[in-house]
Amino acid sequence: MTAHFRQDKPDTRNLLDTFGQGVIGKPMARPDGLAKVTGTVPYAAEYYFVDCLKGFLVTAPFTAGRVKAIDKTGALAMDGVVAVIDDPRMTVRPAQGTSGEAPEQGPAEVAYHGQPIAVVVAESFEQARHAARCLGINYEALDPAGLPLDPAAVPTEPGRGSMQAGDLAHAMKKATHSVDLAFTTEGHASAAMEPHAAIAEWDGKTLTVHASLQMPNYNIAELADALDLAEDDVRIVARYVGGGFGSKLGLSQETLAACLAAMETSRPVRVVMARRQVFETVIRRSETHQRLRLAADAESRLIGFGHEARVSNLPGESFAEPVLQSSAFLYGGENRLLQLEIARVHRMTAGSVRAPGEAVGIPTLEVAMDCLAETIRIDPVELRLRNIPEKDPGKGLPFTAHGLAECLTRGAAAFGWDSTLRSPRRRLDGEWSIGTGMASAARVHNVAEAKARVTLTPDGTALVQSDMTDIGTGTYAILAQIAGEMLGLAPEKVLVELGDTAFPRGPGSGGSWGAASIGSAVSVACEDIRRTLAECAGCDPDGLTLRDGLVDGPSPRSFAEILGREPLSVVGHYEPGAIADDYTASSFGAFFSEVRVNRHTGETRVSRMLGAFAFGRVLNARTARSQCIGGMTWSIGAALTEALLFDPVDGHLVNCDLAEYHVPVHRDVPDLDVLMLEERDPAASAIQAKGVGELAMCGGPGAIANAIYNACGARLLDFPMTPDRVL
Ligand code: MOS
Repeated sequence: MTAHFRQDKPDTRNLLDTFGQGVIGKPMARPDGLAKVTGTVPYAAEYYFVDCLKGFLVTAPFTAGRVKAIDKTGALAMDGVVAVIDDPRMTVRPAQGTSGEAPEQGPAEVAYHGQPIAVVVAESFEQARHAARCLGINYEALDPAGLPLDPAAVPTEPGRGSMQAGDLAHAMKKATHSVDLAFTTEGHASAAMEPHAAIAEWDGKTLTVHASLQMPNYNIAELADALDLAEDDVRIVARYVGGGFGSKLGLSQETLAACLAAMETSRPVRVVMARRQVFETVIRRSETHQRLRLAADAESRLIGFGHEARVSNLPGESFAEPVLQSSAFLYGGENRLLQLEIARVHRMTAGSVRAPGEAVGIPTLEVAMDCLAETIRIDPVELRLRNIPEKDPGKGLPFTAHGLAECLTRGAAAFGWDSTLRSPRRRLDGEWSIGTGMASAARVHNVAEAKARVTLTPDGTALVQSDMTDIGTGTYAILAQIAGEMLGLAPEKVLVELGDTAFPRGPGSGGSWGAASIGSAVSVACEDIRRTLAECAGCDPDGLTLRDGLVDGPSPRSFAEILGREPLSVVGHYEPGAIADDYTASSFGAFFSEVRVNRHTGETRVSRMLGAFAFGRVLNARTARSQCIGGMTWSIGAALTEALLFDPVDGHLVNCDLAEYHVPVHRDVPDLDVLMLEERDPAASAIQAKGVGELAMCGGPGAIANAIYNACGARLLDFPMTPDRVL
């Protein structure tokens, strides 16, 4: 049985507040947490098959050109080697789960250094790796001197998201105050803790793949299409995913390689990417070049707003880092220019990485706002408060719940923000200069179609099933809470099973839409179960009270008394409807940070950081807070250390591991303060929740940059702000 709900208007039933269980929102620990940290849950590569072969990917040792032939005879004669597969289907670039078709590509065409071109399959991992290194590859490499490698120096194509209104140049001229600034941000890696891995089994008709993927609901179609199989003959299992950051939205080569190898050898095949291969092969966040122009009148109100960005991708790829996405509505200004351009270069595919767009678009905007506040001589918090628009200034649409002003004021109070006039280099502590800075945060809210099956059993337990994933975000916990709340069960009585395409299609984990979308599907199913229970119990659904596994009333009755011995099973189907065209929906926030900059070394230490966030209903105070802490930690990385560095001669990625690509470690992260506002957003999803995971890294780097300026007077416009740049 299916219950369908299409959301065309705000859902003001406020349904999750009416059950009185107090389970939703509680800081419940993840039911999977202990098993994960003690290493007892299996990740993709950790399923054991007695006769499992191991595959090792072979990657192109040149930037662009063509593989003419691979001499397999030598490798096949080596100990343990079973197959060498150079099927062009696995050499295609990783697809992007959110951006449509992968481009057509001829067999064995190589477009970036490190692109997989073959997989060697052997009895042991070591045999496969050794043979992969000995493989004779006959190739024709193009001279890198003639290739487009530098995104700043090649012609561009127009990208999506551009808009123009009024006359920005004129507004800049007649403005009382204005700033015109050029920024750069470096590329970011999407490498997750769990490397890309897959084990495929083929029985001659059906393919079963244990893989580390964010969106099995979508990946099953990609895989079936690539292998020319029916979706019914493919099953993807991804019960636990050790981080994604966008790199596992689409299929990548380890999964295709494992499948092709299993189909060729008729044995299970495991392929795990080496860490270097993860860096060289899976998607990157594009570097950006940006120009910000802000024009304000005598009342410090924006009359002109210009944000232009240049990003890069491989030739033929459709994705362009959506840098301007939230700039389109964060602040007012009637004369507007937003313009995105794409340069075509031979670096690995650029795709959706950790808050695509805002992660690099908001920090630059927020540094420009800080410069403007300094020019005007106004408190930067006040400048932002004055420029929050009533409606989306580009589209003219109303906003769903809009929490920016409250985040700014409550965040400032909680941080102890000093709103008296600021000037740099005021506080010293020995060789350290101390400063504070702030920034706004915004991240568009997305919600996706989702299905989940909820089964209520007469013994007073429930089962929730979907192919939705938990990529470390807490999906197992929040779904137990939603079903528990609505069915009157303790969350421990709700078993959640995820990450298996044998279950109904979820929304996948991406773009921070997971919790709101799959949570809505579970709520639709639970609502239908409640209706049936009310019918059977002979009461009005609105008057139905479920508590401790009993139907409340003058004489409480068990589910068994009402349902008999049959479990009650419903697939909830949530679909976002016309509402998406009627509103602009976004999560908002504000960051406040204090840094210490060393006068002699240029080293920056974040000593305090507070984030205030408004993202609709908080489903679990603990996992939501953890998402905020994770995002704020990433924003320290984006501000100070993270950068993909490419060799200017042949374009290969130089820093290919976590020793050379610097993400913040414990020593770099102070105690982070998180303030989560109580907000309900009935236009955002059926459960009044919005996305949070990515919000907490959108703007944070701007707050740190502004604090660096306040500390030492260095107004830097290039991220990350490494010591050499600060000095
Ligand atoms: Mo996210 S970058 O859509 O996984």
